[in-house]
Amino acid sequence: MDKIQIVGGTPLEGKIHIKGAKNACLPLMVAGLLTEEPLIFKNVPHLADIETMKELLHSLGAFAEQKDDVLTIQSNNITSLTAPYDIVSKMRASFLVLGPLLARFGKAKVSLPGGCAIGTRPVDLHLMALEQLGAKITIEGGYIHAEVDGRLKGSAFTFPKQTVGGTQNVMMAAVLTEGTTVLNNIALEPECTDLANCLVAMGAKISGIGTPQLVIEGVDRLHGAEHTVIGDRIEAATYAMAAGITRGHLDITGCPLEYLAAVVRALTEAGVEITEIPNGFSAEARHAVIIGTDVMTEVYPGFPTDAQAQFMALMSTAYGASLITETIFENRFMHVPELVRMGANITIHGTSSAIVRGTTHLSGADVMATDLRGSVAMVLAALAAKGTTTISRVYHLDRGYDELEKKLSSCGANIKRISEA
Ligand code: EPZ
Repeated sequence: MDKIQIVGGTPLEGKIHIKGAKNACLPLMVAGLLTEEPLIFKNVPHLADIETMKELLHSLGAFAEQKDDVLTIQSNNITSLTAPYDIVSKMRASFLVLGPLLARFGKAKVSLPGGCAIGTRPVDLHLMALEQLGAKITIEGGYIHAEVDGRLKGSAFTFPKQTVGGTQNVMMAAVLTEGTTVLNNIALEPECTDLANCLVAMGAKISGIGTPQLVIEGVDRLHGAEHTVIGDRIEAATYAMAAGITRGHLDITGCPLEYLAAVVRALTEAGVEITEIPNGFSAEARHAVIIGTDVMTEVYPGFPTDAQAQFMALMSTAYGASLITETIFENRFMHVPELVRMGANITIHGTSSAIVRGTTHLSGADVMATDLRGSVAMVLAALAAKGTTTISRVYHLDRGYDELEKKLSSCGANIKRISEA
């Protein structure tokens, strides 16, 4: 398994361009199951999770190929309606095929995703919403067996709590139902909005996009489309925090500031100066006094849970204390023990709050990546730490960060990948 070695202490200075969002690409790829015509996506990064989704679509009989940043999906020869455990357990977004397969073929067998490092992550709300549209769902042998007599029927459903995946799954089912579906309390993440916009480009009839209520008038079929994936707001937030923790300056393009309001507010309060530039923003911390700042993760447009670990790393080097509260997932502090090994002063209270007391400096150490965002938090800490840090299990990083070493080393970081058999 590969490792990444970083010698810290150099302020980052330079430009970083962000491509399409991982968490937009994955549901968009699944939307390709809704039509037999080709879907062409632009601005697509090269990520392990996208390769895994291609593997899943291939196993269903779909065409899925990427050339540079253009990804083409076509499902005119679906030969299987089963999403197998070995793929779904590797990447939870695979579960999103349930809605589209049901809507287009009336049947699907999808492995339950199983546990995940950051939480139990049930899919009960996905199933509740699909049953409301007429799906008959049973669970047997670790698989969801779903089918519908005839076609799914439009209905009304209110999500008891906001769920990104649940919103995406049922949205992709509702576009091909008979009748009209009203979805209330949907997730407002930009990746959900991007999916809805792509579905409309494919001929879906959706109103209320960007609001808590979607009204979807089912159509008989959808056609192909071309769609440019929105920039990755979490990757952009990550690099802004990299500028902060190294007391450097980065121009970050490819993601509009509008997706990052809560992150900008927290970084500004912490002392990082965020300024809009053409097609992005700059993060300036060369003369900053970074101060402890409290954040609580919330559904969009609140502070994103996917940027919590990175912000905690930044707060580890701040003056004063920071209270960080994680409200979305029940076990998303696995990066804490690893940061503490680097000299961070962090105390976890219960399961959802951590007090970070900033230290003058972190020290390089051998650490282990625990999950996608926890692993990039270790990279940030290593960039600021005195000495050398070796991060193991970096396959977590490769799931969601395209050309991380290249981007950081182009801005002055002393970072290299050590490939091990
Ligand atoms: C998406 O996961 C993202 N993944 C996650 O990003 C992100 O952290 C999460 O949304 C929240 O923003 C992708 O888009 C591929 P949820 P998802 O359904 O859809 C509970 C990353 O690092 N819940 O909004 O699985 C659930 O347990 C990843 O890129 C139910 O209880 O998130 C969690 O506590 C990590 N029942 C909360 O809701 C359900 O049926 C939010 O989950 C569904 C969810």
